[in-house]
Amino acid sequence: MAKPMRKVVFPVAGLGTRFLPATKTVAKEMLPVLDRPLIQYAVDEAVDAGADTLIFVTNRYKHAIADYFDKAYELESKLSQSGKKELLALVQGTLPKHVRCIFVTQPEALGLGHAVLCAKQVVGDEPFGVILADDLIWNDGKSCLRQMSELSMRENGAGVIAVEEVPHDQTDKYGIVDATKVSERAAKINLVVEKPKPDVAPSNLAIVGRYVLPSRIFELLEKTEPGAGGEIQLTDAIEALLGERSVLAYRFEGTRFDCGNKLGLVQATLHMAMQDPKLAAATKDFIRTSGLAG
Ligand code: UTP
Repeated sequence: MAKPMRKVVFPVAGLGTRFLPATKTVAKEMLPVLDRPLIQYAVDEAVDAGADTLIFVTNRYKHAIADYFDKAYELESKLSQSGKKELLALVQGTLPKHVRCIFVTQPEALGLGHAVLCAKQVVGDEPFGVILADDLIWNDGKSCLRQMSELSMRENGAGVIAVEEVPHDQTDKYGIVDATKVSERAAKINLVVEKPKPDVAPSNLAIVGRYVLPSRIFELLEKTEPGAGGEIQLTDAIEALLGERSVLAYRFEGTRFDCGNKLGLVQATLHMAMQDPKLAAATKDFIRTSGLAG
């Protein structure tokens, strides 16, 4: 029987150039959607999927993520003394007690594949998840990573990669798969291509930031040469994995917001505001009466 996924890797060592100048000092994953940073949504998803070990691949400038999940003694004691129980619960609730965080450093931003490889020693010989926190996936049922890890278990430990249909003219922004349908939402991947031009893309099924992978991927990553953009690409190692075992593309249930760019962050913020009973009516009213909607 396949081992369950207990560890999730969060590569957070990218430079976040699309959010400069804010990302000079604020890690992209700490940008808030309403009152919670992107990384909190990602961590909640991992915990929902059954993870008890969270591995953050950071760079030396990203102390804020470690600080965020650490105990905030002074703040907690002030909130406690002033009887602000709800706020105290919020501050203490960033991480459930049974979950531990491990931080590893990616010395240089050599690509997503290289960032994942930095987690090799901590993951060891077991299946693991990868979440790119700037892809926020909202769902009021089972989280995206949970849907994927359950599918992997049912399919005897197969690799599972989240995909979404994108407009044909945007294939050169994504890893694109060619896959053969095996069920309503899953398809067996035949081929993965990193950022193909629309005229040569094998489909418009794009890889988004969720993966469930076997530990074998680390050995393949070690052999992976720099690819598109001079970076060590996770998709190239996945392509090598396809020759050895089954990897499934999974069309998840949920809505993805690409918060790695400004429009996606605006859309996610509006969407979350509309989910919040205290904000929904006022937000709608503002859009209607301000003339913003044209
Ligand atoms: P992106 O392609 O979004 O790059 O990385 P980026 O640096 O974060 O942002 P831009 O494009 O400059 O605005 C996808 C994911 O891979 C991580 C990033 O942190 C992000 O979660 N990553 C990327 C690393 O951890 N290390 C790398 O060397 C590259």
